[in-house]
Amino acid sequence: MPEPITSLNSLRMGITKRYGNKTVLDNLELEIRGGEFVTFLGPSGCGKSTALSIVAGLTPATAGEIWLDGKRADELPPEKRGFGMVFQNYALFPHMTVFDNVAFGLTLKSFQQDEIKRRVQDMLRLVQLLGYEDRYPGQLSGGQQQRVAIARALVLRPRLMLFDEPLSNLDAKLRVEMRAEIKQIHSELGLTSIYVTHDQAEALSLSDRIVVLKDGVLMQSGSPQEIHDRPRNMFVADFMGFRNFFRGKIVAVVDGVVEADTAGVRLRGEDHRSRVWGRSQRHHGDPS
Ligand SMILES: Nc1ncnc2c1ncn2[C@@H]1O[C@H](COP(=O)(O)OP(=O)(O)O)[C@@H](O)[C@H]1O
Ligand SMILES: [Mg+2]
Repeated sequence: MPEPITSLNSLRMGITKRYGNKTVLDNLELEIRGGEFVTFLGPSGCGKSTALSIVAGLTPATAGEIWLDGKRADELPPEKRGFGMVFQNYALFPHMTVFDNVAFGLTLKSFQQDEIKRRVQDMLRLVQLLGYEDRYPGQLSGGQQQRVAIARALVLRPRLMLFDEPLSNLDAKLRVEMRAEIKQIHSELGLTSIYVTHDQAEALSLSDRIVVLKDGVLMQSGSPQEIHDRPRNMFVADFMGFRNFFRGKIVAVVDGVVEADTAGVRLRGEDHRSRVWGRSQRHHGDPS
């Protein structure tokens, strides 16, 4: 069993990113607790990768701060942050074997050979690739290559794992399998993870918390159930796949219940601004 990873208690961030006069992230404020699996979810171009890259230290923020366990972290270079990263395109070294790819970070840090061997074996066991040590990335399937990338990141015992659409290049069936594996590794090692995806199903199945972004603005942050059952606005509801929208005119609001006239039909629903939700589990706008 691999040793537990250095734990993180909290990450706090408030960041803004502009390219020219285009605001790509508009004061994105978040606090992530140790052990959480947080997903950045939103359509292409909404700023997910930029946010992750700023957390990683690969892209500078235009304004804002990142704090790790109460210490300012946004001035640290990427390698001093102690994070692991996995990207969509695997980014393995093609001329190096599986073993050497996974060992890479440890070798750079001058770990002793037997320690390297032990840690690499532990990680290859975790991602179910024992026996593949001498293969080259070109001799592996996409799913196997992504497991090598995960092992390579985990071998350094990162205090935070960053995933940017790691499963997008895999076929649908493998994607679902790998989802389960990533979730299991996260729990087993007690990781803290930020995961970027545009796939609602992926976010719903993996996350403790989903952060929905639109044009660099946080639309909603909540548990999968909250996001799914209580979308806070039309954008979130639409993005989560709801199609039961009715345009109407509000005729009454009583105790958090909104009554609306839609083309002659009266609908009643919960006022989404109301703090006290009714007993009903109906979605907003559902006919009553
Ligand atoms: N280096 C860059 N220069 C200019 N604009 C960029 C750069 N990188 C990203 N952008 C823009 O920032 C926005 C967010 O991009 P990105 O974070 O990659 O979105 P996502 O990962 O959600 O698809 C997009 O409009 C994109 O065109
Ligand atoms: Mg992206």
